[in-house]
Amino acid sequence: MRLKNLLPIALASLATAQNMSLAQALASQNATLSTLNSLLAGQPQLLKTLSSARNITLIAPSNTAFSNFLADPANKAAANDSNTLTQVLQYHVLSGTIAASAFTNTQQFIRTMLMGSSSNGTTNATTTLSTVTRGQVVGGMTTGNKVVIMSGLKQISTVQTANIMFTGGVMHIVDTVLTVPQPPSNSAVNSSLTSLAGALKSTNLLTAIDSLKDVTIFAPSNDAFAAISSDTSTLTTQQLAGILKYHVINGSVAYSSLITTSLANQSFPTLSGGSVNVRVEDSKVFVNSAQVTITDILVSNGVIHVLDNVLNPANTTALPIPMATSQPIAFADVSTSTSRLTASTAAPSVTASKAGAVRAIESGVGVAGMAALFGMVAVAGL
Ligand SMILES: *[C@@H]1O[C@H](CO)[C@@H](O)[C@H](O)[C@H]1NC(C)=O
Ligand SMILES: *[C@@H]1O[C@H](CO)[C@@H](O)[C@H](O)[C@H]1NC(C)=O
Ligand SMILES: *[C@@H]1O[C@H](CO)[C@@H](O)[C@H](O)[C@H]1NC(C)=O
Ligand SMILES: *[C@@H]1O[C@H](CO)[C@@H](O)[C@H](O)[C@H]1NC(C)=O
Ligand SMILES: *[C@@H]1O[C@H](CO)[C@@H](O)[C@H](O)[C@H]1NC(C)=O
Ligand SMILES: *[C@@H]1O[C@H](CO)[C@@H](O)[C@H](O)[C@H]1NC(C)=O
Ligand SMILES: *[C@@H]1O[C@H](CO)[C@@H](O)[C@H](O)[C@H]1NC(C)=O
Ligand SMILES: *[C@@H]1O[C@H](CO)[C@@H](O)[C@H](O)[C@H]1NC(C)=O
Ligand SMILES: *[C@@H]1O[C@H](CO)[C@@H](O)[C@H](O)[C@H]1NC(C)=O
Ligand SMILES: *[C@@H]1O[C@H](CO)[C@@H](O)[C@H](O)[C@H]1NC(C)=O
Repeated sequence: MRLKNLLPIALASLATAQNMSLAQALASQNATLSTLNSLLAGQPQLLKTLSSARNITLIAPSNTAFSNFLADPANKAAANDSNTLTQVLQYHVLSGTIAASAFTNTQQFIRTMLMGSSSNGTTNATTTLSTVTRGQVVGGMTTGNKVVIMSGLKQISTVQTANIMFTGGVMHIVDTVLTVPQPPSNSAVNSSLTSLAGALKSTNLLTAIDSLKDVTIFAPSNDAFAAISSDTSTLTTQQLAGILKYHVINGSVAYSSLITTSLANQSFPTLSGGSVNVRVEDSKVFVNSAQVTITDILVSNGVIHVLDNVLNPANTTALPIPMATSQPIAFADVSTSTSRLTASTAAPSVTASKAGAVRAIESGVGVAGMAALFGMVAVAGL
């Protein structure tokens, strides 16, 4: 009797780490992962898929990570919705077996199981949190001797326990639940790109841009919009829309890792029809003459890079001055001394819900930016 009881335990401890099933690996960490384990237990279909998957990396949020996450009512509601929870968990499953030693101090972008459409190939915009068709990504790199995973809204999760091997791959325990990338509108507000959000709203482009698939958006900072605002001239909605569309590449998601390698020094057609020239010089990235100041805000349909200047579709040959600390504005004849555009700093908190994106804009922050911007931008050469 005694022997019979002891036997399975002995066998379990004999199983080499590499030969643990995912379920065994998760159970072995139950002291830290009981919340994840119970959430997975409520998702039998996903658990089955993960159990038979090979060559994956599971980013496993600790109990503390989940308790912080679930303290937000919006997240609590999301976790209570099976479809949303499935997608949140899918975002934690990376393609490839990526040991901690494979990360470097250069950010790499890794595809996840969160795909742009459901398994039968259909896309339901209401229920699909990501429309990056080849799989939504996380960023991964080392900072000091830690591995950090970057997700939506520039959320950073730090690996606390690395390299728990199982038959299908490897698991890393993190201190923060990954944030599923949000729509561009929501992400812009969160990153204080409120003038852009306001301008998109005023031109009726917000929903259109949120609903595109696989985009790269170059987002001028509030200061960039302020630099071309003026009391003297006005832009029509159509002109403003033309400028904004010149900042969107439809059909190509250019993460910084691609811009500095395979996509370096190329020109990309934009939604406005004209092309932008992306250049890597002096270890800086430029779009026409504007400099990329913040890279890789991961969004539901691609990626946003922040620019220090607004791009001018009528000035496609503008060249950067790579050695300069700041770049000249790409609009001739604009007075920079009369800027009245004030950036709002009080962006509302954003939630996991898509509707939250539009609410955040409509609740006033974006509109404030729009009201200040609209009718106050002088543009030469349009
Ligand atoms: C791993 O475990 C399975 C049964 O769970 C067994 O069939 C297989 O031989 C084991 N492989 C190794 C390398 O130990
Ligand atoms: C994990 O821990 C929780 C709570 O401590 C417990 O209810 C659950 O049965 C445990 N699960 C496993 C697989 O050990
Ligand atoms: C979770 O969903 C159930 C119905 O599916 C509902 O009765 C319950 O109130 C929800 N709980 C929370 C915290 O939203
Ligand atoms: C594992 O996945 C990575 C990333 O998708 C891929 O490059 C690699 O070829 C795969 N390896 C195996 C053995 O399937
Ligand atoms: C495809 O899957 C989605 C979600 O899982 C479901 O709503 C839809 O009815 C399915 N469509 C077909 C054609 O089976
Ligand atoms: C998309 O999903 C929502 C929520 O589950 C559902 O109400 C709607 O009918 C679905 N639309 C399509 C086209 O399947
Ligand atoms: C952006 O989102 C993060 C994560 O939800 C939050 O901590 C932060 O306060 C937000 N920032 C702004 C300006 O809304
Ligand atoms: C964006 O690209 C997709 C795929 O090529 C295309 O179907 C769609 O019409 C394009 N959208 C716009 C607004 O150009
Ligand atoms: C891009 O162009 C710049 C300037 O012409 C050059 O210095 C740089 O090496 C190029 N980068 C790549 C990756 O081709
Ligand atoms: C084009 O941009 C440059 C700055 O890169 C600026 O000096 C020039 O005035 C602009 N030309 C027009 C026609 O707006």
